[in-house]
Amino acid sequence: MSEHLSPEYLVSLGQQFGTPLYVYHAEKIKEQYNKLTTAFSRSRPRFFYACKALTNINILKYICSLGANVDCSSINEVKLAIQAGFSPGNILYTSNGIAFEEIIEAQSLGVIINIDSLSNLEKFGRHYGHSYPVGIRLRPNIMAGGNLKISTGHDKSKFGIPVDQIDKVLNIVQQYNLHIADLHIHTGSEIKDVDVFVKGIEILFDIIPKFSELQFIDLGGGFKVPYKDGDVETDMQLLAAKVEEAFASHPNPGGRPLEVWFEPGKFMVSECGYFITKVNVMKETNAATFVSVDSGFNHLIRPMFYDAYHRIENISNPNGTPKRYSVVGNICETDTFAWDRTINEVHEGDYLVFHNAGAYGFEMSSNFNSRYKPAEVMVKEGEAHLIRRRDTFDDLLRNQIIL
Ligand code: LLP
Repeated sequence: MSEHLSPEYLVSLGQQFGTPLYVYHAEKIKEQYNKLTTAFSRSRPRFFYACKALTNINILKYICSLGANVDCSSINEVKLAIQAGFSPGNILYTSNGIAFEEIIEAQSLGVIINIDSLSNLEKFGRHYGHSYPVGIRLRPNIMAGGNLKISTGHDKSKFGIPVDQIDKVLNIVQQYNLHIADLHIHTGSEIKDVDVFVKGIEILFDIIPKFSELQFIDLGGGFKVPYKDGDVETDMQLLAAKVEEAFASHPNPGGRPLEVWFEPGKFMVSECGYFITKVNVMKETNAATFVSVDSGFNHLIRPMFYDAYHRIENISNPNGTPKRYSVVGNICETDTFAWDRTINEVHEGDYLVFHNAGAYGFEMSSNFNSRYKPAEVMVKEGEAHLIRRRDTFDDLLRNQIIL
């Protein structure tokens, strides 16, 4: 079990590398990956790290060294994965709403492709016929996930081909003699209830016999990680038991054993991440005591975008008297990280850390207000390595054409 990084150590990293700063603890990623691989006893599923959560090349290289596979959501993620050392057979490209040219490029790189529209499936058929195995992303019409913005499998979602259009899929498959190797579903992010995955499997069991060349089913990602004290993590042992039970009660649907694949993003990298900021200004008002940090939703958008909760700790004063604060950023619009939150007494100059910041933290950051993107550090085997330097003024102008 990897220890959490201590407040004193995080302060020292803030001092050494400056703030705002993303810090990732490599051994925590390994611990999470081990939880996945050791949970299943009877089957040996394959795990594809959904790298949209965090794509720093050093994180990708580290995850590759653990023996994981990788799931990509754009052709550039595919290219980053190749650069990080993943072999094409271990790279999955689950496309959504993309130009067909990107699928041509992915095919030429030899990666595994999931297609999520009838239109691209038909184009795929015309181009490749039976020659290149391909997967189909289906929309199971299941509502799941922490909030509507991160729910992807329900009946109003843009993702996947609705299961009620399966006849249309079969027509295209037949017309072009497509080699369908997998069926894919992903219902959302932050799914606590493992029965959602079982429900997905049951929907697929009805469809599987219609495809004679299937090798695996892909149940996507979306495992819950604990953000708040008292939050639960998706119970991997229970998930494994239920998935294995579902397969045991439907032995060899379609006549052959199928592999099960998963695409965890948050589960792999959320908890490894610490976002360190420094307090610029304290402001007393009738409504709140505001703590303004040297960051904003340009660096960690999850609280403003999803009302997400990130635990905030005053690492400069871990034993100070708890008080109520509203923690805000310095962006020129409402930019609230936390309202009326209990934090150990805060002073200007203190370092505050946001926990669980590894997934969709740096990855969703921007240069809004012409602020620099933060630096990133990876702590591995007790050593801190700078893995992305902070932006500089030149970076703000880099792609601009000055007339
Ligand atoms: N597979 C597919 C096809 C996906 O679309 C996603 C996430 C995943 C796997 C990984 O899901 P995860 O295990 O990370 O929950 N930015 C949002 C989360 C959006 C997730 C989008 N798709 C957030 O910060 O909560």
